[in-house]
Amino acid sequence: MCGIVGYVGPKEALPILINGLKRLEYRGYDSAGVALLNGELTIKKKAGKVSDLESVLRPETLQGTVGIGHTRWATHGEPNDTNAHPHSDQRGEIALIHNGVIENYAAIKKTLESEGYTFHTQTDTEVLVQLVRFFYDRVGSMETAFRQALKQVVGTYGVAMLSKMEPGRIYAARNGSPLALGIGDGEYVVASDASAIVQHTRQVIYLGDREMAILDRDRYVTKTIDDEVVNKQIEEITFDIEQIERGGYDHFMLKEIFEQPETIRNAMRGRLNLEESTVRLGGLRTVTNKLRDARRIIILGCGTSWHAGLVGEYMLEQIAGIPVEVEYASEFRYRDPILYKDDIVIAISQSGETADTLAALREAKRHGATTLGIVNVVGSSIARETDAGVYSHAGPEIGVASTKAFTSQLTVLSLMTVMLARMRRMGAAEGAHILKALTELPEKVEYTLARAEQVQKIAHEIASTQNALYLGRGYNFPVALEGALKLKEISYIHAEGYPAAEMKHGPIALIDANMPVVFIAPKDDIYDKIVTNIQEVRARSGRVIAIATEGDTRIESLAEHVIYVPETHPFLSPILNVLPLQLLSYYVALQRGCNVDQPRNLAKSVTVE
Ligand code: F6R
Repeated sequence: MCGIVGYVGPKEALPILINGLKRLEYRGYDSAGVALLNGELTIKKKAGKVSDLESVLRPETLQGTVGIGHTRWATHGEPNDTNAHPHSDQRGEIALIHNGVIENYAAIKKTLESEGYTFHTQTDTEVLVQLVRFFYDRVGSMETAFRQALKQVVGTYGVAMLSKMEPGRIYAARNGSPLALGIGDGEYVVASDASAIVQHTRQVIYLGDREMAILDRDRYVTKTIDDEVVNKQIEEITFDIEQIERGGYDHFMLKEIFEQPETIRNAMRGRLNLEESTVRLGGLRTVTNKLRDARRIIILGCGTSWHAGLVGEYMLEQIAGIPVEVEYASEFRYRDPILYKDDIVIAISQSGETADTLAALREAKRHGATTLGIVNVVGSSIARETDAGVYSHAGPEIGVASTKAFTSQLTVLSLMTVMLARMRRMGAAEGAHILKALTELPEKVEYTLARAEQVQKIAHEIASTQNALYLGRGYNFPVALEGALKLKEISYIHAEGYPAAEMKHGPIALIDANMPVVFIAPKDDIYDKIVTNIQEVRARSGRVIAIATEGDTRIESLAEHVIYVPETHPFLSPILNVLPLQLLSYYVALQRGCNVDQPRNLAKSVTVE
């Protein structure tokens, strides 16, 4: 949700800002803008992508070694040139960029208007920069004005600000929206995440809520917005630049789909204890006893991460025998949940910054629950705020549609399940059997992805339709939800995922010869049931595409197209079955000419509620 970047140092800032914005563009791409200081303050901004901004920039008029840049996901005000960031005060001497939502902007705006301030945009951000100006005119110190303004604000922000009055300085602050500070050699880069920093330095500081940084060319200070100096720990960025580049693929999404054999391997690396037929998760060591004795697990997440949670529910209940509830974080946080002290709450999040998941996690902590995270981004807010957790180690995920993060989350959930099951009720022989299945998984993923061409060939079946239905049962019901989500978000085809048997209670009315129905039908103990569901669809002329287990020839007489995946332990089958669905949505979107990596209206990291 909006990407922000700022640079102070000896180099020309503009190329660094543009490059940083391109790295952060997955966070939002409604408009982009930069502000540079070079005696004067110059602001350039444009609706559309960073490339649209670039096409109107004349670098020779935008020189300066201090600057800020922004890529927007619109919240307040339509995505046009005027509402693009940076925003400035009415004298054009201060420029500010913002990621987040200022909830009390209307009240502040009214007060400022009564003081003679005029506003030119519909954004909440303009209110903040005008408020800084208001205080600056009264106290004469930019730092005090910045802090005072932030203290008035209710809501979330990651901000960066510069001013003509202090030509070599950037102010940055965070509350609820992520902000990282890259510490280079005589230069600093502030950004929404480390992907815009890693090219310049691996040393990074993650600001906490209500913390700010003052960056000059030769020094930096971190403090709270209440003016208490905080000495932040410098951390090392854990990924390499190659990981955030497309590496020869047409799209990040495709690259990330094909990375899955490796990312799944990484999620398991060092965690399988073959000797004791169990799993070792170092990040959970401090809560092992609590986990063993847990009465209930509550899983929180949004979107694809919520789907992973649903698979986790089936895994943990059926294999480890622990009651599990899975909740949309956005619902959980506002519904006064009943929680017990011996509940374990697991927040699942790729970014570790999703506003609703973070708020739901805090709600669970307030109730005294033990909180765990399954998070991909190292050092992110959710990772830092949970009592314990397991990183999913998928590496940076740039494509807006989540793919490798999902299968890594499932892998971690399967590891947690085995660990808990072995502590509670599973014998060593069953443990060894499951570990073997886990060990074989990356190769099976590789094998499944090698059939991408076959999936590509059937994409036309869906590309020309307006609707599609995805049906699955048991472990693979959430896979149906995920397949439908992938299709709708990148190809804009309306798709619904349903438990296959539930189809008879409504969606069956939609089925006719124009309706493609994707069945996830592995050869498990409910296979016969799903075959019956397939027949029900066929009887109504529905067009069936089946994801089936290799060797299942019976299904060929029922489905128009069959995509085979190798057999595995049933609780791992979602990891294989989702792969053709990821590919299907990718190829359908391509055929429809959609922007796969930057689907309309979406942003990768949803840091507003
Ligand atoms: C869908 C997708 C989203 C995210 C959701 C949660 O492809 O990517 O539905 O899964 O926004 O994001 P995280 O996992 O970062 O909390």
